[in-house]
Amino acid sequence: MSRHYSVAIAGATGAVGVEMLETLEKRNFPVKSLRLLASARSVGKTMTFRGEKLPVEELTPDSLKGIDIALFSAGAARSKEYREICVKAGAVMIDNSSAFRMDADVPLVVPEVNPEDVKWHTGVIANPNCCTAILLVAINPLHRANPIKRIVVDTYQAASGAGAKAMAELEEQTAEVLKGNRNLKIEALPQRIAFNLFPQVDQFLENGYTKEEMKFINESRKIMHHPTLLVSATCVRVPVLRAHSEAVHLEFERPMTPAEARAILAQAPGIQVVDEPANKRYPMPIDASGMYDCLVGRIRQDLSFPGNRGLALFVSGDQLLKGAALNAVQIAELL
Ligand code: A2P
Repeated sequence: MSRHYSVAIAGATGAVGVEMLETLEKRNFPVKSLRLLASARSVGKTMTFRGEKLPVEELTPDSLKGIDIALFSAGAARSKEYREICVKAGAVMIDNSSAFRMDADVPLVVPEVNPEDVKWHTGVIANPNCCTAILLVAINPLHRANPIKRIVVDTYQAASGAGAKAMAELEEQTAEVLKGNRNLKIEALPQRIAFNLFPQVDQFLENGYTKEEMKFINESRKIMHHPTLLVSATCVRVPVLRAHSEAVHLEFERPMTPAEARAILAQAPGIQVVDEPANKRYPMPIDASGMYDCLVGRIRQDLSFPGNRGLALFVSGDQLLKGAALNAVQIAELL
């Protein structure tokens, strides 16, 4: 008989938590029991899993007793507070926050890229930043065929990346602007997002990059086991509700043609090649929304690298799924 697991979702009411619940159900994860945990504010709410209404409970140290797998997406502060509590309770924490991603004793895993790293966990496995997961699932198959030396990536990040409140803010601001109101409520995001975009995702650091941009560099090196990889990123928030997109420029060690890249990507797990520009078919966030696979297209020679050693491509992936909930559930499946 196959084993079934006691699972908890911490942050179950959030944008990612809701998707974790749905992903566990859709992928038929062997759940023996499920606890839905959030802040005290959510006590009294119910959520449905496999047709059954489950209560949302307050996350407390007692919540983790008897749990095998704890999916955490309630912010880095909560993850830090609960790491030891999870370990003592014998639960493996799969953490969606940035709290432990770069810790030497915590594997950082994209199942399509480095599934073997789950083996050395000591109680916590980290889920990467959403943009990093979407980027790596698309480019690692190319890297395996021809090592990548340099990545330049610019993002078009949806409101979903900043949580359920930011998604609501985009909808509310848009409705207000259409009513003619210019006095908009700006709370969840640092700037007005309706009919606007801004080059700030997370806080700025002393080197002029944002924390989000630096995550690309550090997390990609760790996940790909490629300490000399060169990466530069500009992360931009755009008025898209859900699914992130990325314009990616790659420099390889040896020449690679777009046809070679398309053939490799067509065989790779977790992605779909959508690359028929003549028919106006290319990746778009609206098409990637709700999909497990990331979409890759606009694959062309990057003319700024001599000798056909560069490729340019465009990726769209559901930030809430491959960028968060799906990746976490895939890690649980590996376990
Ligand atoms: P709640 O809905 O009760 O506030 P998002 O990233 O979409 O904003 O979601 C954040 C998630 O983290 C929500 O489920 C939220 O629960 C949960 N959360 C926030 N603060 C706490 C806390 N102090 N303890 C437990 N869960 C929390």
